[in-house]
Amino acid sequence: MRQATPDDHRPSAARPRRAATPTLIAAAALACLALIAGPVLSAAVEPDGDLMRSIDDTTKGLDSSVSQHDLAAATQQAQELAAVFSQISEHYAAQPDHADAVDFSRKTRQFAEQALQSLKSGDFDAASGHVLNLTRSCKACHQVYKKD
Ligand code: HEC
Repeated sequence: MRQATPDDHRPSAARPRRAATPTLIAAAALACLALIAGPVLSAAVEPDGDLMRSIDDTTKGLDSSVSQHDLAAATQQAQELAAVFSQISEHYAAQPDHADAVDFSRKTRQFAEQALQSLKSGDFDAASGHVLNLTRSCKACHQVYKKD
């Protein structure tokens, strides 16, 4: 019998993996539109379940890269997180009455950027503190915006 781990917040049957394909096509279509329309269309992305699960993987990866002092992996993961939360903040900025969500995503991005700065100076202890703040800032947004 398989033991449930804390990561098993959902049965795998509830995860429609194939849904990624239309998402990718939509993203590609949007990217083309953005090329045509120029800076008018921002790179905003909606934080749906698929994106969040991938963010979750990257965050866990960052945490372990920092504790293993893997500079290259940690740098890349922190950059990815900074970029994606920048896009998420643009998504919320385009909606009325979502100022707090813009704030939550900007804060999360700032913690990723602070972790990057610490990594640049080789200070893994400081980076680890920023990663802790980053994971706390995930929860702050979830308390308001994630419906269970
Ligand atoms: C700006 C708001 C916001 C921030 C910041 C945020 N999230 Fe989320 N998160 C959401 C929303 C909204 C959902 C619900 C998405 C859905 O199911 O449509 C969610 C869902 C999730 C889920 C559940 C996905 C699923 O359906 O299985 C995970 C895991 C998750 N987030 C991880 C993270 C991690 C890790 C961070 C921080 C690095 C983070 N989130 C930061 C808004 C946010």
